[in-house]
Amino acid sequence: MQKEKVLVTSALPYANGHIHLGHLSGAYLPADIYVRYKRLKGDDVLYVCGSDEHGVPITITADKENVKPKEIIDRYHNANTEAFKKFGMSFDIYSRTSKPVHHDDAKTFFLSFHNQGLLNEKKTLQFYDEKANMFLPDRYVEGTCPNCGNEDARSDECENCGALYDPSELLNPKSKITGETPVRKETTHWFFPLGKYQERLEAYIDEMNSKYGWKDNVLQYCKSWFKEGLKDRAVTRDLDWGVRVPLENSEGKVLYVWFEAVLGYISATRDLSEQRMEPDLWKDYWQNPKTKYVAFIGKDNVVFHTIIFPAMLMAWNDGNDEKFVLPQNVPANEFLNFESKKFSKSRGWGIDAKDFLNLFPADPLRYYLAANAPENKDSDFYWKEFQSRNNDELADILGNFVNRTFIFGEKHFESKVPELINPTEIDLRMLERITEYPAKVGALLEKYKVKDAVLEMMNFTRSCNKYFNDSEPWKSVKTNKEQCGTTINICLQAIYTLAELFSPVIPNTTVKLFNMLNARPTDWYNSGNPTLAAGHELNKPEILFAKIDDEKIEEQTTKLEEEKLPPVEDPKISFDDFTKIDLRVGEILEVEKIPKSKKLIKLKVDLGDSQKQILAGVALSYTAEELLGKKVVVVSNLQPAKLMGIESEGMIIAADKKDGGVQILEVSAEIPSGTKVK
Ligand code: MF3
Ligand code: ZN
Repeated sequence: MQKEKVLVTSALPYANGHIHLGHLSGAYLPADIYVRYKRLKGDDVLYVCGSDEHGVPITITADKENVKPKEIIDRYHNANTEAFKKFGMSFDIYSRTSKPVHHDDAKTFFLSFHNQGLLNEKKTLQFYDEKANMFLPDRYVEGTCPNCGNEDARSDECENCGALYDPSELLNPKSKITGETPVRKETTHWFFPLGKYQERLEAYIDEMNSKYGWKDNVLQYCKSWFKEGLKDRAVTRDLDWGVRVPLENSEGKVLYVWFEAVLGYISATRDLSEQRMEPDLWKDYWQNPKTKYVAFIGKDNVVFHTIIFPAMLMAWNDGNDEKFVLPQNVPANEFLNFESKKFSKSRGWGIDAKDFLNLFPADPLRYYLAANAPENKDSDFYWKEFQSRNNDELADILGNFVNRTFIFGEKHFESKVPELINPTEIDLRMLERITEYPAKVGALLEKYKVKDAVLEMMNFTRSCNKYFNDSEPWKSVKTNKEQCGTTINICLQAIYTLAELFSPVIPNTTVKLFNMLNARPTDWYNSGNPTLAAGHELNKPEILFAKIDDEKIEEQTTKLEEEKLPPVEDPKISFDDFTKIDLRVGEILEVEKIPKSKKLIKLKVDLGDSQKQILAGVALSYTAEELLGKKVVVVSNLQPAKLMGIESEGMIIAADKKDGGVQILEVSAEIPSGTKVK
């Protein structure tokens, strides 16, 4: 089989938190399984990763703890390096973007683009905190949503109603650092002309997809980006943590974290070159047209790996003689949830890799996450399922088959491989199956179908157990020892194949297995040929999987129940507070559409002794005709506010509907306008 040159990367995790099971199942374990398989196949593989150590997520964590960013990245880089190791990740290097080699590479790319005249310098208005003396990144500003009035809205996006708006429209903006109202100040940034590359990017993705088959979910994301049209993107930020912009008059500016982080794959490979003292090693992968480059990521990173990074590489290749390869495939996974809910650090929901691996060994977790990988849709981690995958599959099927075979070998054949003599029909069928599986599983792994591959591994193991049962060696050992020997020989050959096939998934266990077999792994596609000669000595069997008892699982699930209890303080308001709200019956007199808004509509409401202009977020649920003449309940003493530049002097009471719309609370026509509602 043709040997390939393969470069594999996994998304560089931010060094501002611990790796959790969701991360592992999305971007790391599938890549590690693929890489281990490729190595066993004899391909020339390099697997690169590292910590993403710049950007606002890091500075926010540092601010919260009142420490320097350096302290945060050191802490989490070390912790994550350790957790990955415990989990059995086989990176060739786990580098970090704070290293000089990375700063150099990022600057080199930026300067190449700048010197090619690609970057547009533009002036923009940005929030500025005069007390802290700094520009505020989007995530450092919050305020009131101009659409729904949510007071904790982000500067350009409201999580409550989903509205996207320009930061200039945010009401009551507040700096998260000082709490002051920020001013808007002019600043200069450099923009990468992503739009220029749209056609080439579409052609590139089409070509890769038709040659190598990209995943549907990934193609869908790309399509929606293309449909919207690619626009210029700022590649610099006003921040003092990151890779400095390598130009004069750019004090206090750094490269945008995503611009440089993707280049971290390249600089990590250069880091490895330096460590190995092979200065050209990185080029031999990155700048070798024969290289097959595969980027493993989670779904939230798709655009950066299928559009932005490739566009950057195209831009580099246009202006330089030494050309980089582009990703041949980006097998992004969906998300893993934890017991039916999203992992959430802030709500304490989920479990970190390091905590998990203090409780249980890595292999059962690797097996469960692989068998349950969120390849085409989100999937869930359940403690109970983890337990049953370990007990009912690893221990009862794989462990049991290995154990009974070895016990037989020990007891009746002096721990030597017996001879294979006069195979029967079922023996021959079993031998055939053994030969078939490596190709079957290999083909799935070539297509990044880790979940199906693991399923086939377990199917094969089941068929091994069935063969053992059907052959009844406990009978033949008394009546026909030769035949018994043949059965055990074939079972041992099967165990050899199993050890090879399971190696990428449960590498610690298969090391033990090979050791028990007193054999070494071979070329993957050769591992189905009977390799253990008659008379070959076996080592003592070991227990491969310990069963996990109910108690240990219940300890974990009880903790969850406690988490789920409602928060103790349910904020109450006093009766006085309530009476401050002046609710009145009003009649809608006029209705006017607001051109730019889908949700908002402008109403004039009669309150008996006065009329008010109210902007209501009901346009998705009601037509103008339906609204006209309705009697409604109005909060009449609300502080006036401007929404989308238009003054609103009150609020209409309505109930949320499941479909995202609203239902206005109506009052019967005979109640006069202005009547107080209590
Ligand atoms: N740090 C990012 C995240 O955790 C991923 C960066 S991937 C890279 O979502 F390619 F930019 F490095
Ligand atoms: Zn909102």
